[in-house]
Amino acid sequence: MRKLVIASLIALLAIFTAACSGSSGSSGKSSGSEKEASKDKPIVIKFSHVTSIDSVKGKAAERFKELVEEKTGGKAKVEVYPSSQLYGDNDELDALTSGNVHMIAPSVTKMVKLDPRWQYVDMPYLFEDQEHVHKFFESDVAKSLLNSEQLASNDIMGLAFWENGFKHFTNNKHPLKKPEDFKGLKFRAQAGKVLEAQFQALGAGSATIAFGETYAALQQGTVDGQENTFNNMDTQKYQEVQKYLTLSEHGRLDYAIFVNKSFWESMPEEIRTQVEEALKEATDLAWELAAEENEASFENLKNSGKMEVIELTDEEKNALKEALQPVYDEFEDVITKDLIEGIRSLK
Ligand code: LMR
Repeated sequence: MRKLVIASLIALLAIFTAACSGSSGSSGKSSGSEKEASKDKPIVIKFSHVTSIDSVKGKAAERFKELVEEKTGGKAKVEVYPSSQLYGDNDELDALTSGNVHMIAPSVTKMVKLDPRWQYVDMPYLFEDQEHVHKFFESDVAKSLLNSEQLASNDIMGLAFWENGFKHFTNNKHPLKKPEDFKGLKFRAQAGKVLEAQFQALGAGSATIAFGETYAALQQGTVDGQENTFNNMDTQKYQEVQKYLTLSEHGRLDYAIFVNKSFWESMPEEIRTQVEEALKEATDLAWELAAEENEASFENLKNSGKMEVIELTDEEKNALKEALQPVYDEFEDVITKDLIEGIRSLK
């Protein structure tokens, strides 16, 4: 009887092992060895992100999908999961590390879990304009973030930067012009201590809320306001739940493309090269689209007639900048002087 039980257990183990190695063939987690790919059995790249299909990121992701299929002749395909369909802010990074998805494009501040330097993007008024941001994306300091030890030790590779735009504040209580106007309000934040400190410096509170839950939080009044790019506000329809939009341009929201390293390296070299070419073209598109989509979204927000748009004079912007200086005092060492000075030197 004992022998029979042991023999059955061994047989079950053998079936389980075979099933697991079968599923790591063309679309599952990496088996560590090179994958095989054909049109009938393509490599499937699962790409998860949190914004809608018509956002800057959503459009670039769809283009990436088309380009991969074109360039590999169908030997690789991309399954895009937008709008937190598969994973949201709270679990996307873990899903990448564990290989349940192969590619993500988070707003870089959300990488704070692995490396606090990614919060460079939140440092108030660090970037001057879009050209400055592009210079940064192409710089050695930016490459050093993508190639960091912190990512590699989590089986992650950073491949590219995608752009979105400058952030602006909205809220539902009253027009925000001066630092004092923020006192006592509560804002939704994406992640991390820098954004918390930013709101604190203005006398406001904040709560970290996943992107997919932000509309409901604004609608229900869990928070009074939020900060985001025009395109994210418009594609999430925040004009339905926010009355005042202040054109502050106080920080950036940009993305990086991260892939599961074992999966990436297990693709046949020829296919990987074609997929990388596709990513390069999708990246160019993301950079091209960012400004025009944000401008179009600003028009939509204004034309909705639902939001009062508050412009700031240079003096008012300077007052905000000054009020936000404590964020630098507190976080310069965390972000590192090298990174902050490296970015400033690119102006
Ligand atoms: C947010 O959470 O506001 C953004 O990071 C969403 C996004 O991916 O643009």
